Amino acid sequence: MKKIDRLSFDKIIYNIERLDDYLRGKKIYPIHIDAGLVLGCNHDCLWCYAANKIYNNKFDFVDSEKFIATLRKMHALGAKSITLVGSGEPTLHPDFAKIVVELKHIGYEIGLFTNGSVLDKKMIDIIVDNLTFVRISFNGGNKETYEKVHKREHFDKVIDNIKTLLQKRKEKKQDFPTIGVQHGTNHLTIGSLIDAVKLFKQIGVDYLEVKPILFISQKPDGSRNDLNWSSAKSILEEAESFSDENFAVYPKYEQFMKVLGQEEYKKRNYDYCHGCFFSTSLEIDGSLYVCVNHKDDFLIGNVFDDDFEEMWWSKKHLDLIKSIAVNRCPKACRMDPLSRFIQEIKEPNKQIHPNFL
Ligand SMILES: C[S@@+](CC[C@H](N)C(=O)[O-])C[C@H]1O[C@@H](n2cnc3c(N)ncnc32)[C@H](O)[C@@H]1O
Ligand code: SF4
Ligand code: SF4
Repeated sequence: MKKIDRLSFDKIIYNIERLDDYLRGKKIYPIHIDAGLVLGCNHDCLWCYAANKIYNNKFDFVDSEKFIATLRKMHALGAKSITLVGSGEPTLHPDFAKIVVELKHIGYEIGLFTNGSVLDKKMIDIIVDNLTFVRISFNGGNKETYEKVHKREHFDKVIDNIKTLLQKRKEKKQDFPTIGVQHGTNHLTIGSLIDAVKLFKQIGVDYLEVKPILFISQKPDGSRNDLNWSSAKSILEEAESFSDENFAVYPKYEQFMKVLGQEEYKKRNYDYCHGCFFSTSLEIDGSLYVCVNHKDDFLIGNVFDDDFEEMWWSKKHLDLIKSIAVNRCPKACRMDPLSRFIQEIKEPNKQIHPNFL
């Protein structure tokens, strides 16, 4: 039996009313928001798009009051969940704890992407008390690879912090937050992938996501992915074979196939992006773009200054979405699986005789 896993867009089925409204042409607002708290990072990962803000060691922070007020309005319009991520390290925000507590109070389910290197006792308590998931970005299964990618000697420190998170959750007798690790994978890191799987299984995290590194123009060398699909596939399958009832390995097969140029993913089945209506991203200055991959000319407006509700269904936003040539979007962009699925619902393939159950 096919199971819906925690990293798949099949989960849209749990929001069937919103999907149905969208398919009937009603105005819907996003279910999920990705938000940055900090523009900049204390790490310097080889391939990271936050790279331009890493070197000067100055971090820009979101204005907590404006941020919380905006998120309150978005929640009232139907937003349910928020992932703290962005172009930098969210846990560096001086109000990190306050922001998390306020968002929870508003009613959000909260997720966090973090490099896990600056978590102290208080932050770990806040995370364990309030979050639905925390996913630590950890690239490499040994010190040498990790330090080559992150360019920081934080291997042991981050492992200790992950252990403390797990210990705290156990002490509090909770099932949440789920505690997972994400592993960026290319020709530099695949050699230690199986070591990473063994390490994190032994530590006792809930899951390991194995995702491909995507090319970004700001880091043309660091973000190269020279893997070859047939040899990568067998290593990904080996990694997945370590899954059991307490530990899941999720290789993002489709993303790898897209990045590594597999034929069936060369063309999209939709003309404009559906996924962007269901999940959106906020920049730390309040800028709302059509999608994280389309900035500059694709600014819808500023949610700190203008009314989000008006902005979302403005002609400008709709025109911008429809103006994006999706076949030129980054190959493995986040919303592609959801957009493909929605298009299949909108226009079923009659060859599969959809009404025969
Ligand atoms: C930019 S970071 C921000 C949050 C936090 N600092 C962290 O590392 O989780 C979010 C995620 O983007 C991933 N990422 C950055 N650059 C990437 C690239 N070129 N290809 C694939 N993933 C990338 C990182 O590995 C990380 O998992
Ligand atoms: S830790 Fe996150 S934001 Fe920082 S450089 Fe690495 S991927 Fe980028
Ligand atoms: S990059 Fe992906 S998510 Fe963004 S508009 Fe294109 S298809 Fe949609």
